[in-house]
Amino acid sequence: MPFTANRQFKKAPRMLVAAEGMHYTTADGRQILDGTAGLWCCNAGHKRPKIVQAIQEQAAELDYAPAFQMGHPKVFELANRLVDLAPEPFEHAFFTNSGSESVETALKIAIAYHRARGEGQRTRLIGRERGYHGVNFGGISVGGIVNNRKVFGSLLTGVDHLPHTHDLKRNAFTRGQPEHGAELADELERICALHGPETIAAVIVEPMAGSTGVLLPPKDYLQRLRAITKKHGILLIFDEVITGFGRLGAPFAAGYFDVMPDMITCAKGLTNGVIPMGAVLTTAQIHDAFMTGPEHLIELFHGYTYSGNPIACAAGLGTLDTYAEEGLLTRGAELAGYWEDALHSLRGLPHVIDIRNMGLIGAVELEPIAGEPTKRAFSAFLKAYEKGILIRTTGDIIALSPPLIIEKDHIDQLIGTLGDVLKTLD
Ligand SMILES: Cc1ncc(COP(=O)(O)O)c(C=O)c1O
Repeated sequence: MPFTANRQFKKAPRMLVAAEGMHYTTADGRQILDGTAGLWCCNAGHKRPKIVQAIQEQAAELDYAPAFQMGHPKVFELANRLVDLAPEPFEHAFFTNSGSESVETALKIAIAYHRARGEGQRTRLIGRERGYHGVNFGGISVGGIVNNRKVFGSLLTGVDHLPHTHDLKRNAFTRGQPEHGAELADELERICALHGPETIAAVIVEPMAGSTGVLLPPKDYLQRLRAITKKHGILLIFDEVITGFGRLGAPFAAGYFDVMPDMITCAKGLTNGVIPMGAVLTTAQIHDAFMTGPEHLIELFHGYTYSGNPIACAAGLGTLDTYAEEGLLTRGAELAGYWEDALHSLRGLPHVIDIRNMGLIGAVELEPIAGEPTKRAFSAFLKAYEKGILIRTTGDIIALSPPLIIEKDHIDQLIGTLGDVLKTLD
């Protein structure tokens, strides 16, 4: 099983057999409140009628169409809907099947784009410590979660990393964006000086780092990264696999922070997690750089058998309809204050060393047990599941990212139960 303590699981399996709205049903018939939108992906909640219907109808009409040299109407419809939803500079979409594939795609486009413009020496890629960009070789190379990298060899060459922005000393218990740490973006100048900026193709960051345990960008940090990348002709890629589709209270984090990268990677909420699908959004400038040469030639030698799969596209359209009809992509902004107060009510409980929040994301960081990192949070996860809530842990951090359909009484139940769990931890 992926990213699972397999032996522990097999001794005491946690099996989900159904889901609807805010809840999962377990094999033994219990209701579990979903505090994580599955894996940060079921933003509209579960078993949503429009999505179910769209998938069923599409399977009966056009099950598959070759992705290479052929098209079908829904893939263009979804691409158009997606770029309409995204901030203005984004005009094109390239479909993949996951966040990891979106990352690989964006990194490859970045290098190929520079080459197409006669700057083939720009091949270096810059990520960030503690960054998560999926699990493929490009993604773990630019990523900075040590356990995801260290046993997999020497990875891509020509990669460097910015420092992470986590600073408990200065920023613990901040509500929203931390005050301190904007200057960490200036480390990019040091990296440019070291390698020569003209050798760097792209910088990739999560505008809000989710998987590592919810690290919010310090105020003005993203703006500084944008200014430095622009100054040196380096592309900026926002990995919005988690932040895309309403998590922060806006359709995309780029719009939320009002910082425009050159590419956005997304997945997860694109189809509400129901069918695997991802996408890379690019500007016209990037797209057009490839549209040269004889017209019978392929412009980008990249793609997947399932890029733009018709059933995934139908799921995507059903999902975007559901988001639009229910105002879900901005609902996080409406609930953010209530969510923030509820989360910060956990301050002072045993072992809690930080609480972070933004939109409908939250994190509670625990003091690790000496010599046994991750054990305390994992025990919280198991106890929470027993008490009827699904939370997620990474290291000793509890991360929360409920479906955007959450109501205030669900928030009370989620945070109240979590508080009860925290009181019982060793
Ligand atoms: C920012 C980010 N990028 C990439 C990925 C990888 O997505 P997937 O698991 O769909 O490959 C994730 C998954 O959590 C993510 O959070």
